[in-house]
Amino acid sequence: MKKILVIHGPNLNLLGEREPGVYGTDTFDSINAEITELALKQGMYCEIFQSNHEGEIIDELHLARKNYDGVILNAGAYTHYSYAIRDAIAAIKIPVIEVHLSNIHARDEFRHTSVIAPVCAGQIAGFGKYSYFLAVDAFKKMLKDDETNE
Ligand code: DQA
Repeated sequence: MKKILVIHGPNLNLLGEREPGVYGTDTFDSINAEITELALKQGMYCEIFQSNHEGEIIDELHLARKNYDGVILNAGAYTHYSYAIRDAIAAIKIPVIEVHLSNIHARDEFRHTSVIAPVCAGQIAGFGKYSYFLAVDAFKKMLKDDETNE
């Protein structure tokens, strides 16, 4: 069974109460339950990790390279300036899909730049919690294609 890890960055633990007009009213726990359930339905094992600290996110990416087949990463505001997280993604061989609930390209100017995008497999933004679900779907296809090629 393929294993994927979802990493949520800073402030995403407050989903449900944090700026509901931007991020919706679904809670952090309910979104995670839906992601995990969807992954299982697709025949993949999914774990969730959240941290408000850059170094912890980097540590988790390092650990993931040994234990998972892919990572779904919402790096929150670190997306826009963390070269350290970018380097961690570049350092590991497993694919990382960048995800955002909001459409970062339609928001403040500083959010238009993702310093992690060039080292990610792809970016999904603007579909609320469905951004995560689309990333699960992408992994289902990507990791299955890998198997076919083995
Ligand atoms: C976010 C977008 C970021 O700009 C912001 O700092 C977040 C959440 C999103 O999911 O839309 O914390 O990553």
